[in-house]
Amino acid sequence: MFDDYENEYESDYEYDDGRLVQSTKGLEDMEENVLRPKVMADYVGQQKVKDNLSVYIAAAKGRGEALDHILLYGPPGLGKTTLAHIIASEMGTQIKITSGPAIERSGDLAAILTNLGEGDVLFIDEIHRLNRSVEEILYSAMEDYALDIIVGKGPSARNIRFALKKFTLIGATTKAGNLSSPLRDRFGILARLDMYTSEELGKIVTRSARALGIEIQPKAAMEIAGRSRGTPRIANRLLKRVRDFSAVQGNREVTLNDARYALQQLDIDELGLDGTDRTLLTAMAQKFNGGPVGLDTLAATINEDTNTIEDVYEPYLLQLGFIARTPRGRTLLKGGYAHLGIPMSEKTVKNMSIFDDWKE
Ligand SMILES: Nc1ncnc2c1ncn2[C@@H]1O[C@H](COP(=O)(O)OP(=O)(O)OP(=O)(O)O)[C@@H](O)[C@H]1O
Ligand SMILES: [Mg+2]
Repeated sequence: MFDDYENEYESDYEYDDGRLVQSTKGLEDMEENVLRPKVMADYVGQQKVKDNLSVYIAAAKGRGEALDHILLYGPPGLGKTTLAHIIASEMGTQIKITSGPAIERSGDLAAILTNLGEGDVLFIDEIHRLNRSVEEILYSAMEDYALDIIVGKGPSARNIRFALKKFTLIGATTKAGNLSSPLRDRFGILARLDMYTSEELGKIVTRSARALGIEIQPKAAMEIAGRSRGTPRIANRLLKRVRDFSAVQGNREVTLNDARYALQQLDIDELGLDGTDRTLLTAMAQKFNGGPVGLDTLAATINEDTNTIEDVYEPYLLQLGFIARTPRGRTLLKGGYAHLGIPMSEKTVKNMSIFDDWKE
């Protein structure tokens, strides 16, 4: 299951090219902490994950024990960091936050671990980017709450074991498939976050508007929700931009017309696709007759980086069923043609049946 997931959503880059509908964190998202729900009841959607976690939290509290280790995985901007904070606060414990690339040496991790109190949460973001020697420290820490340290060199080397307080590790990753299996197996709870429905995003937009002191009509909130690619971070970002347009118009309240006008000015269509998405789809239709076209060729044609296409543009287009990844390259599917309003050639229609199998 991890492998399927891994093919669909990959994002390992700190993109910050100012693209509005990008799900990775950028400078636009400075206010994120203000908008983070603090309690489970305010965390919209992900019902199954929330229900299960609430049971585990209640049970751990009942036993007076630390919560089992949790791995949260899913595409960027869906609420992994937010959920980790909520878990710690529901447990009534402290949370210490770090990330895979930030821990350079095993000594750094050892220092963090020995400073944790009973029941504390250690949150490691981008846990798939831990280096191997650091990761190995985690094995005994997670399993036995112990730190194994080797002192000395050569024949006189000795293994010394330190006891740690019982803590909870929460790991977050956008690439669960990149986690080594010894690490993955040490998590008692695996929770996958999925993209949100428009209704859920509508609630998030309404809630964020209240937090930012913005008056917004319900229909305007839904308009933003529908164009947010299933991602709360994008919804919040679009809300702020729409507010700016509305304010310049001198409106006290964001209306549906304001929202539509702003999103049109921002070049974001009804499905949340922007100019680059459409350039990519159009190139596939017009230059490659729907494909299959290799990623490198496609990237060169639209003058984009292959990684960016794979990690940033494709996940949502795959989710919409507009394109497919096949062994021979990328293919534009019926939905993609329909969205562009470009008719399929007869030859493409004939070929298409072969690729329908690749649609997930
Ligand atoms: N379920 C939710 N309900 C309300 N708001 C949410 C929810 N999930 C996320 N958000 C909002 O989206 C923003 C991004 O969420 P968060 O930072 O937790 O995502 P993430 O999964 O950790 O992303 P990344 O992979 O980039 O670290 C938060 O500021 C929060 O306001
Ligand atoms: Mg995060």
